[in-house]
Amino acid sequence: MKTAMMALLLVASQAGAHQASLETFSTKPILADLADLKALDIPVLAKEESVGVGYAVITPEMQLKIQERAHKVGKCGGFEDLTTEKNFQALNFTSMLSSLAEIKAKNDLYERAPFAAVAVEKSPKIEAAVAEVSEQNLREWVTWLSSYPNRYNRGKTPNVHVEDMKRRLQTLLASSNIPYEISLISHDSTPQQSVRVRLTGSTRPNEIVVLGGHLDSINQGWGGGQQAPGADDNASGSANLLETLRIISQKEQPQRTIEFFWYAGEESGLLGSAEIAKSYKGEKRDVVAVLQLDMTSYPGAGEFVIGNMTDFTSKWLHEYLRAVNEAYLHARIVDDQCGYGCSDHASWFRQGYPTLMPFESTMRADNPNIHTAKDLINDKTNFAHSAMYSKLAVVFAMDLANSAARQPY
Ligand code: BES
Ligand code: ZN
Repeated sequence: MKTAMMALLLVASQAGAHQASLETFSTKPILADLADLKALDIPVLAKEESVGVGYAVITPEMQLKIQERAHKVGKCGGFEDLTTEKNFQALNFTSMLSSLAEIKAKNDLYERAPFAAVAVEKSPKIEAAVAEVSEQNLREWVTWLSSYPNRYNRGKTPNVHVEDMKRRLQTLLASSNIPYEISLISHDSTPQQSVRVRLTGSTRPNEIVVLGGHLDSINQGWGGGQQAPGADDNASGSANLLETLRIISQKEQPQRTIEFFWYAGEESGLLGSAEIAKSYKGEKRDVVAVLQLDMTSYPGAGEFVIGNMTDFTSKWLHEYLRAVNEAYLHARIVDDQCGYGCSDHASWFRQGYPTLMPFESTMRADNPNIHTAKDLINDKTNFAHSAMYSKLAVVFAMDLANSAARQPY
């Protein structure tokens, strides 16, 4: 214990000494899959076996090893860079890990306790709304979003597309009968802003159903420059959310509040969502459920196969997905794991909120072009597949925002 503490102290001082830059660094603190760290002989300074996450301080050589391994097993980055956390020098990694373990333990209760099975009843109104999802609209939204040189949070103009998005939302919502609010949310950790649309609930406005995805993009290819069209990652999920909003904003006012988020700086470490989820927790906001849509247009594991990411997500919502699928989608669901907090759902999960992350594929079969200039609409892009995620989002919003359902623990 004593040596572990000393290691942590040593790490904290080392971490403070280097520049938090992706390209050149001496060492940096990360969280990664425990099994990966062990397999690569990277010293684990703190760990939480129950969640399979380890804390390490890595050199550029170690980073390369992790990335190589991640690519081999079909993962993306393979770790979380903690230098992207605001004030990372002051982070207490052991308590971060144990609070994650606590949330996980609570989540695991779901399997042991005799909770009623999750049921979703087919409703004609929801069915009609689901039928309105348009593949053509999705293609148009993605074409527009992937036409920016990049949507990078550290780019020269990190908010041009954000401001365009706001204008599009104003047009989209102008004819809605539901009281709404469009906000650009500024952050401490990045100059890029997140976008939020709130559809205020009629009878239980303090209960919130969140639907989100990241709007930013990144180019991580060697010498790849700044071109980051991010068509699949994540214009696709962003488009799904726009299409869902287009449809439900024309319907009756929901009982609960529905909030849509297009997060900033996800690609640089879940920046926007981390700040938002923390502030919601701090304000004790009652977020009933969080849906994350990140990459939906590349059916790597087959058309209409959904990769249900089971880490950093809630067992209650896994069941909910199965019930929605039976009633409305009729897809094949394959459980899979990112192995680390791979998208914004992890930010909410860390604050104790129930999350769901239905992914376009399995990790193993995922889109090889993401984070490069080649992430464009191409012959692999499948808008029928992507439309399924908007259908799911329509049901998630309309069903959950008009029910009393919530995680039973
Ligand atoms: N959309 C990806 C996450 C992803 C990629 C999930 C491939 C499943 C398969 C996301 O935008 C991303 O790139 N996340 C980062 C992690 C983050 C903490 C910087 C990653 O995976 O490297
Ligand atoms: Zn990405």
